[in-house]
Formats: sequence, C-alpha cells, structure tokens
Amino acid sequence: MDRCTCRLSKKIAFSGIVTLIALSSAHAFAQDESQAWLSYSDRTAHTMFPRDIRALGTSPIEQTAVEELKRNLSDAGAASRPAVAGETVLGTGAEIRKAYPHVPVPADMPPESYWMHASGSGDHKLLIIAGGDERGVLYGAFALLRSSAAGEPVDLSKTPLRSEPAMKIRWVDEWDNANGTVERGYGGRSIFFDNGHVREDLSQVNEYARLLASIGINGCNVNNVNGAAPFLTPGWLQGLKRIADTMRPWGVRLAMSVDIASPQKIGGLKTFDPLDPDVKAWWANKVNEIYAQIPDLAGFTVKADSEGQPGPASYGRSPADAANALANALAPHGGVVLYRAFVYNNHLDYNDLKADRARAAYDIFHPLDGKFAPNVIVQIKEGPIDFQALEPVSPLFAGLRETNSAMELQITQEYLGQQRHLVYIAPMWKRVLDFDLRAENRSTPVKQIIEGKTFERPLSGMIGVSDVGRDGWLGAPLAMANLYAFGRFAWNPDLTPEAIAAEWTKQTISADPQVVATVDKMLMQSWPAYVDYTGFLGTQTLTDITGSHYGPNIEASERNGWGQWHRDDAQGIGMDRTVATGTGFIGQYPPEVAKMYDSLATCPEDLLLFFHHVPWNYKLHSGKTVIQYVYDSHYKGAQEAAELGAEWATLKDKIDPALFEDERARLEYQAGHAIVWRDAIVQYFLKESGIPDAQGRAGHFPGRMEAEDARLTGYSVIDVNPWEDASRGKAVSCAEKSCSAEWTYNGQPGRYDIAVQYFDLQGGTAHFTLGINGNGIVSWAADATLPSRRPHGDNSTRYTMRGVELKPGDVLRVEGVPDGGDPAALDYIEIEPATTAPQS
Ligand code: GCU
Repeated sequence: MDRCTCRLSKKIAFSGIVTLIALSSAHAFAQDESQAWLSYSDRTAHTMFPRDIRALGTSPIEQTAVEELKRNLSDAGAASRPAVAGETVLGTGAEIRKAYPHVPVPADMPPESYWMHASGSGDHKLLIIAGGDERGVLYGAFALLRSSAAGEPVDLSKTPLRSEPAMKIRWVDEWDNANGTVERGYGGRSIFFDNGHVREDLSQVNEYARLLASIGINGCNVNNVNGAAPFLTPGWLQGLKRIADTMRPWGVRLAMSVDIASPQKIGGLKTFDPLDPDVKAWWANKVNEIYAQIPDLAGFTVKADSEGQPGPASYGRSPADAANALANALAPHGGVVLYRAFVYNNHLDYNDLKADRARAAYDIFHPLDGKFAPNVIVQIKEGPIDFQALEPVSPLFAGLRETNSAMELQITQEYLGQQRHLVYIAPMWKRVLDFDLRAENRSTPVKQIIEGKTFERPLSGMIGVSDVGRDGWLGAPLAMANLYAFGRFAWNPDLTPEAIAAEWTKQTISADPQVVATVDKMLMQSWPAYVDYTGFLGTQTLTDITGSHYGPNIEASERNGWGQWHRDDAQGIGMDRTVATGTGFIGQYPPEVAKMYDSLATCPEDLLLFFHHVPWNYKLHSGKTVIQYVYDSHYKGAQEAAELGAEWATLKDKIDPALFEDERARLEYQAGHAIVWRDAIVQYFLKESGIPDAQGRAGHFPGRMEAEDARLTGYSVIDVNPWEDASRGKAVSCAEKSCSAEWTYNGQPGRYDIAVQYFDLQGGTAHFTLGINGNGIVSWAADATLPSRRPHGDNSTRYTMRGVELKPGDVLRVEGVPDGGDPAALDYIEIEPATTAPQS
C-alpha cells in the first residue's frame, strides 16, 4: 500500500463508529509540560479503543506499547470518556497470524511498519495492531493515540490502516557535554549528564524516549559532537549503558559522538592516523568493548577537521579514510557511522573574492563519492552554511550518488530565536524536503534522495539536533511543535506543515476548533515573520555569528575567517557566487538548478543576495529597490511578530491558564525584540546606503524620547556596541545606587502605551520604575535570562505600560536600580496611541 494514502491524517472508526472524542470541557487541567503532546489531558483529542489490552509477545517493546495504551485510558480526563468493550491485541505480524489466522495481516510488512484492523461488535470488538517487527507494534500503538488528527473518518474494519517509515535513520542528536551543559541548548541542563558522569536518575530520559518513540524516532545520539573523547572511557561506557537500557524499551537505540583522535587522546597511542594498523586495532577493540555493554548501539557520529576538532587531514587522510576505519570496526556489530559533512576552513581570507565557505562540503565530499564503506552515511546540514534563517539547499545532496547520505536539521533554534521567539520550522524543512535538485536532469526532490530512493541507497535518513534539557525539554511549550514535526517528517516527508501543526495542537493544547485554527495560523506565520525581521533576500541571520547567535549584529559576519559574509558596502550587498564572476558555488548544483540561480532574472528573490552582489537600488521583480525592501520587510516582520501576540490573546478563555500566560509573556517579549531587530537592521543599512526610506520610517521615531536626551540623575551616556543595537547608538548606564531619567511630554493629550526600552543583563537583577509627575505607576525586575553581560541587541528588552493618560507638561520618569553586574541601562521610551480600550 502506498505510504501516502494511509498517513494518519484520518479519524479512526471502530466498526463503522467514529470514536474520536474531542473534549474541550470546562475542567481546568494543569498541563504537565514534561509529557508534551502525550499529556492525555481532557482538553485534547482522543481516539477510544477496546479497553482490554494485551500483547501476544513478551518483548519489552511490545509491553511498552500495551502500557502506553493503558496509560492513555487511565490518565487525567479518562473518566469523562466512554469505555469501549472488547479487546485490543498487539503483536508482530507473525504473532498475529498465528493467534488469529482469520485476520488478513499483510504478508509483506517491512520492519518498523504497522497495520491496524478492527472487527467484531458489542463486547466482542477486536482491534488488532500488527507490527512489521516489535518497533512497528509500538509505532502502531502511538499511531492509534495520534489518530485524533483531522481528516476523513476511516472504518478500520473495511480499510485497515497501514504505514511504514520513509527513512531508515530517524535520529535526534543531543549536544550534551560531560559537565551537564548543552551546547546550543535552551531548555536547561542535560537530562543525561551532570558533573562529569551519567545522572543517577534517568526518569527524564525515559520520558524523552517515550516522546521520541511516539513520533517514530529510532536513534538518539546523546553526547556533543565537540569534546567527545572522554565518553569512550570505561566509566562513561558503564553510564551510557544505563542510558541505552532506559531508552531500549521505547525502541530508541543509543548512538554516540566520537572524537577521531581518541586512540591518541585516551588510548595512549602516538597517532590517530586512521590508516595506521594500531589505530585500526584500537578502534576494533574499543567497539567490541562498547558492544559488550550496549549490544544494540546504533553507531557513531563524527565531527572532524571542523571548528577546531581534530581530523584525518592531520595525516593527509580523507574523511573517507577516517569514516571507513570506524565503519569497519562497527560493521560486525551492525553499527553505522554518521560522518558529518560540516567540514570547512574557518580561517578564510575575507579579501579573497573567490573564497567561499558554502563550497566546502561539496568540494571535500563530492570527490570521495563511492569511496565510503556501506555502513557510512554522510550527514549533510540542510544548507551549505549553518542553520540560518534562510539558505538554499546544500548541493551535496545531489553530489553523492554512490554514498549514503542523511540530512541534518536543527530542532533547537540556535539561529532562529533560541526558543525565546516562536518559530515553527516545519515550513522551512518542507521547502528543503520538496526542493527539486534536478540531478541527472530528472526530478530528484531532496526528500527522495534522503529516503534513499533517488540513487537507490540502502541507508539514509534525517537527523535533528534537538538539544533538550531539564526545563521543559526545549524550554518553550510551543517550540515542541518543532520536535514533533521533525519526527513526523522523518516518518513521512509528504506530510504538510499545516497538517502536522494541527495534529500537534490537538494533542498538546486543545481540540477546540478555534484553538486549533488560531495556533496553526500562528505557527505557520512564525518562520516567515522571523525571516522578515532578521535578514533579507538570502543574507541569512544577521546576528552575532562569533558570539551568541541571538541578537542583531550586522558586521559580525564580515571581515573575519568564518565565511558567513554578505559583503555590504555603500554601493550594494550580496555574495557573488556565480560561475562567471563569483566563487563558482552555483556550479556545484546540477545544471538546471545552477542555471536558475546563476541568472538574476530567474534566481528566487528570497535568496538573491546569497547568490549575487547587487547595488542598493537594484530593482526586484516587484519594481521595489533592494534597500526599500530592507525597510519594508523589517517593518512588516515586526508587525507580524506583534500580531502573533494578538492572535494568542483571543484564546484566553479556551486554554490552560498557565500555558496561556506563559506564552503571552513570551510573545510580548518577542514583539519587543522584533523591534530591536527591525531598528538595528534598518538604521544600519540606512547609514550604509545613504538612501532614505521612501515611507519615511527609517531613522524617524516620532514617539521616541532618547535616554541620552533626558534629564539624567546619576545615569551616564554610553556608546552601545554594535551601534545599531541601540537607538542612535547610545544608551545610559547607572553606576550609582539608583539613577533616573526624566522627560517632559509635549504631545497631544490622550491615552497612550508607554514602552521603556532597557537592557536586561546577566549577572544581576536590576529594577525599574516608571512614574508620572512624581507618582510611580509601575515597577518591574530585569530578571529575564538573556545572553551577554554588556548592553546590546541580545538583551535589549521592552516593557510596555498600556493605556496611560498623558497631557502636555507631564513629567515621565524612569528610575533604574542596578544590581550586581546589571547597571539598569536604558535606551529610550516610546509613546504611542493606546492599543487597548479604556476599562469601563
Ligand atoms: C554551529 C554551532 C556550533 C556547533 C556546530 C556544529 O557552528 O554554532 O555550536 O558545534 O554548528 O554543527 O558542529
């Protein structure tokens, strides 16, 4: 049966009766964020199934499946659901066939697939969940629980539900360090490690494996690709064995990152040359030692010759030499090597107009095509640079035809607002998956390449860098839609981001149609909005690329060796990557795609500046100049960010109050930070180009009163670096016990919103008070957790007091009380007509 005709966007009927129960009762149910979309609350949607549940096999994975179905029936809210009489029976295809010869289980069920069938009536209802193997049984159970997704009702007695994963490798990578920190993790400390050892209590690992299993993830690499050497020592291996044992009942196999220099670093050898016989023997012994503890280790992930990590280049060896040395050691045990194509020189010469980081992966790996062992998979980031807000697809997907390849995505939002901004990444992933690379001048969408179909590769798949932590997994409830979407795409890349969003919302927040429609709309708007306010036309994320990767910092990408350049100057902007006059990167794509990118006329405009250098007054197809597009898109993006908050506000009485308030505050922060982004980019390029905004907005802020222009007591004026991160490049900072800034209002009388733009630094909790005519009207603490200990765009934050009556002559006063390393720095206040109606 075709995979796409049976995806679970259908309601399941039991013997003709739709048993979808979508309750949105008035019961307040405190959602436990640790359970994410598996909270089984009575607000969310549920499909009922016969209540007597058993497995035919005794394997732990089948037992897990039974327990999960029982948990669903007994969890909160279950009392309000009707019970269904009869039996739910789980087993592998072979087990079902033996016990129920009359049930038409298909003969050709591949591993990890499932098949569901209903029969009988009254007290004799029988629901069968058959798996191609034990994992398939578990995936079938979760598919049943997910079946509240929208779509046509299906009568399982007439139309059995059948599905199989599109990709064999469906892993998450965690960048957890031995000390318990998580590189690029925004959800707290590691769930796996603490202080140089594996945690005693692995209950969060168990819950995480449960979440992963529910979306069909079958591997989890638990340690960072950087600094991996210690993990191969005996003490660590014993700890990793406990993690593997915890995840195994969920069908999630442990994988680990290894340091290619381990034979030297921890093995006492003089070399780590992958072709040295002693090195090969060391790896073979080490792998045997690992498999003695973890018999189902999925494999190794390798980052080598990249960003300071050692690699085979030290010995003049290739990535294939290194990958194969590991692969040969793993092969007898069934393990694989995920060798990352993220290999590049980070000391490029900015003045060399032919230098191009984007070229690196293809230049290095394409010549090695066909030279990798069968159990090596080259793991390619989705774009040629590094998880930017928008990049083209890596040409290497079309460049490896006799080598297994997998796509690496980032679920953690390193360059996408670090979970403080709502950014649902699924639409971006979909764009990548569907992109047709036209290899061999035929249809070769990326998804089919990484399904292994296009070049008939036996191993392939998707890897998501997840970086969950102990504080609510990804640290933000709505960010969990990204983890969910990743798994769903790895199972079926033909799904749509909209359908996945709806599934997730119904299971996680509420099945109420208004909630589903609103949340889905917000999710779908969020990535385009983020692109609109953080970069433009393919310049990538214009952030501090050598630091936090969070706030705006336009020059950080330029004039250094990292190669994330956009090459702007007074005349124009963009990287010339054409074949004729540029770096030649475009020539790495198959001819039809190269031709499209090479020509200004056919290059998609949202990637224009990734591929071409153009003058500021270059006209886009719309007739708008590039510089005007910069202004317009950033005003639009900030507006879109504000709309997310307005949409969420409409759900106030419909969802869990704690979740409502949590997300409301996040969206308010995001709207403020989108303004910081907007203003930084707009004022930077206004100065650079010298071309004014045709709509008169850039550089003009009618309601804004600068801190440096205020009557200051204690505060002193400082330059902010980079200058574009503060209004007019300046702010005030307090070195006293307390400081104040005063302005006299001279505008029209009326009701206003007053925004205070301040810097919320690490290292202390400053306090602020906003007062009018000597009366304090509101106080707040600068207690957010934002990057950096000096004032700039990473921590520029907005507090808005709404609906304040003002008349000419009123004195507005902000008092700042520093704390520790936080000097209560202030940028400006802004007075705008009130957005809320007066309270009656
Ligand atoms: C990015 C990221 C690093 C990470 C690297 C990688 O550069 O900022 O933290 O180590 O990607 O993917 O290896």
